[in-house]
Amino acid sequence: MDNFKHLLRLRDWDAERILGTIGVAIRLKNEVKNGIYSEQLKGKTIGLFFEKPSLRTVTTFQVGMHQLGGMPVTLEPKSIGLNKRESVKDIARCLSRWLNGLVVRCFKQTLVEQLAEHGNIPVINALTDDHHPCQALAFGQVMVEQFGEDLRGKTVAFIGDGNNVANSTMELCAKLGMNFTLACPKGFEQKKEDIELSLPDFKKSGGKYRLFNEPRDAVRDADILYSDVWVSMGQEGQKDSKQNHFLPFQISDELLSLAPKHCKVTHCLPANRGEEITDSVMDNLQINLCYEEAENRLHAQKAVLWELLF
Ligand code: CP
Repeated sequence: MDNFKHLLRLRDWDAERILGTIGVAIRLKNEVKNGIYSEQLKGKTIGLFFEKPSLRTVTTFQVGMHQLGGMPVTLEPKSIGLNKRESVKDIARCLSRWLNGLVVRCFKQTLVEQLAEHGNIPVINALTDDHHPCQALAFGQVMVEQFGEDLRGKTVAFIGDGNNVANSTMELCAKLGMNFTLACPKGFEQKKEDIELSLPDFKKSGGKYRLFNEPRDAVRDADILYSDVWVSMGQEGQKDSKQNHFLPFQISDELLSLAPKHCKVTHCLPANRGEEITDSVMDNLQINLCYEEAENRLHAQKAVLWELLF
């Protein structure tokens, strides 16, 4: 299977394509009011298959497809009955006869891989338990907007769980020569194999991977702090057991005061205010770029659709 035809995980793309896509996203963001690209995907259709809840991702794919002149179609997981009513193979083959692309939010990474393998249309990972590449591209766009296209040597400190967003952010950093720091309680690190698969990209780009169990150590040289919920979708049963471990990993004014003066903050959203991030930091829009990142979901995903469908 040619992973370059899809967006299954950011690791499959090279730096040139990632920066090119971010460049298109920035251009689309500037042109959205003029509607210059409103026929770019005319006649094209994507399916949106979401097994987990979503505000940002589902809205931005729908609006983005509409803005480019194409049509999104909602596919209902319950009605489709994946592996119950019909096999993944047959579903992928049928969808490939009608659609030009498939956007999938699901639990297992293997499902997006199977849909890509058995169909012959681009599959876009809209979040799995292991990866969230669309989020990472929107974050990459924020970084380029803040610091310029050459992000080598910038340091992203991810404060929280070694989850899907951490993985995709790490992969972005590895490709673009940024340093990725994870600060998490012991036992909540990313999987060893995910880190190891990115080490060659870090080596090639000059970026560095670092792990701390003390958030104060992680923020000292950071250009941006990244926050996410402590309990990811599908892990709600772990909330009570996880919360105590993560309390010292809250992004607060106090933690931020230990970072360099220019340091910014972002969050992939939705946020649990008062848990992983305080109200005070969330509402400080001089430093909190999370709403910019949320806006960029629209433009970055349009750029992905353009890249894979046009
Ligand atoms: N950040 C993100 O993916 O938001 P949604 O879960 O609302 O789509």
